[in-house]
Amino acid sequence: MGLKRLDKLIALNCNVSRRDARKLIKDGAVTLNSAVVLRAEELVDPDVDDITVKGYNFTAKEHVYIMLNKPQGVISATTDPKKKTVIDIIPESLKRRSLFPAGRLDRDTTGLLIITDDGAFAHKIMSPAHHVYKTYQAVLSFPIDENDVAKLESGITLGDGTECLPAKVKPVTVDGLPAAIIKIREGKYHQVKRMFHALGNNVEQLRRLQIGSLKLDAALPEGDCRELTEEELELVFIDEE
Ligand code: URA
Repeated sequence: MGLKRLDKLIALNCNVSRRDARKLIKDGAVTLNSAVVLRAEELVDPDVDDITVKGYNFTAKEHVYIMLNKPQGVISATTDPKKKTVIDIIPESLKRRSLFPAGRLDRDTTGLLIITDDGAFAHKIMSPAHHVYKTYQAVLSFPIDENDVAKLESGITLGDGTECLPAKVKPVTVDGLPAAIIKIREGKYHQVKRMFHALGNNVEQLRRLQIGSLKLDAALPEGDCRELTEEELELVFIDEE
């Protein structure tokens, strides 16, 4: 990460303002290589220097990447005056300033959502040019047939004339209900729902299972989240096939 100002590093990693970070330093709550440090502008290298804040070891990270198993009823936004957002349900221990969802899931869609403070990473996931496929399980009103699959896989035109890029589709059943596993690499508004709607079908339930080769952790209950490991982060940009 290189040399960074101590107050800036603490603000970023401890979810406090620069002002509060300076106060922590002034109050003697921060040590650098076992000695109390009182200079907010001290330049430190978090990869080399040993830093503690209020006695706790401090691991500085430039960015955070959180896997959330999004429940129904929360919106993919950072703030909202009325509705609960995906940021509201992140526990304090993982919160940082500038967290936002890397992409959007509808309020009633569940499953894998990555929350981060890394804008370049989010852009790379979302931009169709980077070919990151997102995999959804859609429970449908009616089973789909080979014709439907062919239309979706050759690039379906939505009701308003919007052309979709070719998807990858597999008909399945979920608890005996008609369903499909669909992979798309764009994120148009209500895209999966509108794609099935264009076939005269209806999405009853939508769940995102995967981004690139990164799968939603099956042990992560709905509404819970955890940090991604470095290996998991790399899977996002690896195509399965
Ligand atoms: N497509 C949709 O229709 N909704 C989502 O939440 C994600 C993809």
